[in-house]
Amino acid sequence: MQDQQTFYITTPIYYPSGHMHIGHTYTTVAADTMARFKRLTGHKTYFLTGTDEHGQKIERRAQEAGVPPQKFVDDIVADTKKLWELMNIRYDDFIRTTDERHMKAVQKIFRKLYDQGDIYKSAYEGQYCTPCEAYWTASQLKEGKLCPDCGRETELVREESYFFRMSKYQDWLINYIRENPDFIQPPSRANEMLQNFLLPGLQDLSISRTTFKWGVPVDFDPDHVIYVWIDALSNYITALGYMSEDDSLMKTFWPANVQLVGKEIVRFHTIYWPIMLHALGLPLPKQVFGHGWLLFNNDKMSKSKGNVVYPRPVVKRFGADALRYYLMREMPFGSDGNYTNEAMMTRVNSDLANDLGNLLSRTVAMIEKYFDGKVQQPEAYEDVDQDLISQVELLPKRFEEEMDALQFPQALAEIWKVISACNRYIDLTQPWILGREESGRGRLKTVLYVLAESLRFVTVLISPVMPATPEKIFAQLGVSDPSLMTWDSLSAFGKTPAGQTVKKGEAVFPRIDIKVELPLLEAENDIELGLSPAKAESAPENDEKEKEAVIDIADFQKIRLKTAKVLACEKVEKSDKLLKFRLKVGEEERTVLSGIALHYKPEDLVGRTLVLLSNLAPRKIRGIESQGMLLCASNADDSVLKLLTVDEGIEDGMDIS
Ligand code: MSP
Repeated sequence: MQDQQTFYITTPIYYPSGHMHIGHTYTTVAADTMARFKRLTGHKTYFLTGTDEHGQKIERRAQEAGVPPQKFVDDIVADTKKLWELMNIRYDDFIRTTDERHMKAVQKIFRKLYDQGDIYKSAYEGQYCTPCEAYWTASQLKEGKLCPDCGRETELVREESYFFRMSKYQDWLINYIRENPDFIQPPSRANEMLQNFLLPGLQDLSISRTTFKWGVPVDFDPDHVIYVWIDALSNYITALGYMSEDDSLMKTFWPANVQLVGKEIVRFHTIYWPIMLHALGLPLPKQVFGHGWLLFNNDKMSKSKGNVVYPRPVVKRFGADALRYYLMREMPFGSDGNYTNEAMMTRVNSDLANDLGNLLSRTVAMIEKYFDGKVQQPEAYEDVDQDLISQVELLPKRFEEEMDALQFPQALAEIWKVISACNRYIDLTQPWILGREESGRGRLKTVLYVLAESLRFVTVLISPVMPATPEKIFAQLGVSDPSLMTWDSLSAFGKTPAGQTVKKGEAVFPRIDIKVELPLLEAENDIELGLSPAKAESAPENDEKEKEAVIDIADFQKIRLKTAKVLACEKVEKSDKLLKFRLKVGEEERTVLSGIALHYKPEDLVGRTLVLLSNLAPRKIRGIESQGMLLCASNADDSVLKLLTVDEGIEDGMDIS
């Protein structure tokens, strides 16, 4: 018997400097979809994700939040794991760079590279960008000594440092990339790496820091911590037990089949990472795929710009499968694309509620109506049947080809071509007319059989993208035998047994009223965005915020804080989190919304005097204009959140300064 094929896929490990947003979710859903597909097709599969927890940036965030770094990352990691559960992400391992297993192995990797002469100690002086954790040479810096990656100011730093002899491997890597055109995908990214980085010449890389402590120490020189990227990239092998007592996973799964990364970190994964692996005597991953970004209003998402989309509100309203489908269907994997809730709902309505949902409900309703709910043995197939059957039989192969090329939208488009063909088939065969006469019964049996069996194919194939949906569809189709839910069961058309009993159920994807839902989603997202200021984002842009955090007194004087007395308070309809306040601020009255309903009962707040940011631009949430913001204090994960109150004797309308 042939050995079972293996498949190892990874996501980048995310910075737990803020809550994961829809961009991180995108990569993770893509990896999960691929892993599920490989499991479905019989591969022994390993899917790794995790968090990249060291470095100065995280250390500073923790300081700002007033908690030790470990506590800070623990909270965000716990939230990340909950989010992945909500998104139905089935990873095999979640590695954290603060795991002892990882830290020990990284130290051994460092020592091995040092012992064999790939790492040497020297001193480094250069312009350093803290948010990007990178030194830049004079020719790389933008005017004004700004970082070429993020555009922020760099600082002159001199430190003793260990260096990696990258230059030694440059020619080898250039050849490798040229000889292995599949290694970097899409091909345009390979070109970019060669032209922009490799051909101009690689510098040796500074790979230790003495300026902060939050990292993996070099065990033989503990003043140094290992540069975050060396620490982070190693995760892909330390998770498999590299340099540990049990490296059986390493033997089984390395080299990885696919490593998914966002386009901004292709460079680290196709230059530093291959050189590290080669120096360690390990083979390179078969492929590094650099996908595009999800944009918001054609701009990269960034909390400081207030344009981050979080997945939870969407999932709560429509389920993880709707969002997963949209993320995988909408934009070519490799290109950038805009994310809007409106486009998401439009697609869910057209593809899921209409095309797929209607096909299912029509098929099930007709089998119930004409055959008492029982699928009938088909009679001889006619051309019109055969045309559809051939398309259905070819579908698994077509789907697999697109999936293997990580072309998720095209893979789904193949399925939807068949769904459309089924809907056309209903129009062509007109089962409602066949049902009128006894003479049409034979044809009707065949037509409904073909539809039920085609839907079975579709349902098996959507499972990697929409793992929770097949169960619901199969329940309605009456498919209960697990052997009819497998990839192998798609080897031939016609495995649905006669007599299978369908059962009409609720719409699998109810139609969304976009006009009603849009403002609700936006309000929920605003709350996710607004309620967790210190921790809502992990993209580098976040650090703009860090920089902006230093203000002078003139900035502070722009802020108008006033005491406000609660005249009335009630929950906002259809919202878990929003409370609506009527406030008295001296002579004036104001309406203010606040996302604190999980922490307070409205009636307990009436009569209290609170602190209001009174010159915040008014903003409409759920059709209600909120005229200011009530100040709260909260801990890192918002499990404790309290309104700021004032001492007795302080009246409403007083200035706070
Ligand atoms: N910690 C590093 C990666 C180390 S891997 C050894 C890092 N972390 S990150 O938190 O900034 O996450 C980066 C990854 O999140 C991106 O590469 C990408 O996969 C994903 N995305 C973050 N924002 C994104 C979008 N707006 N759109 C799509 N993906 C994005 O870099």
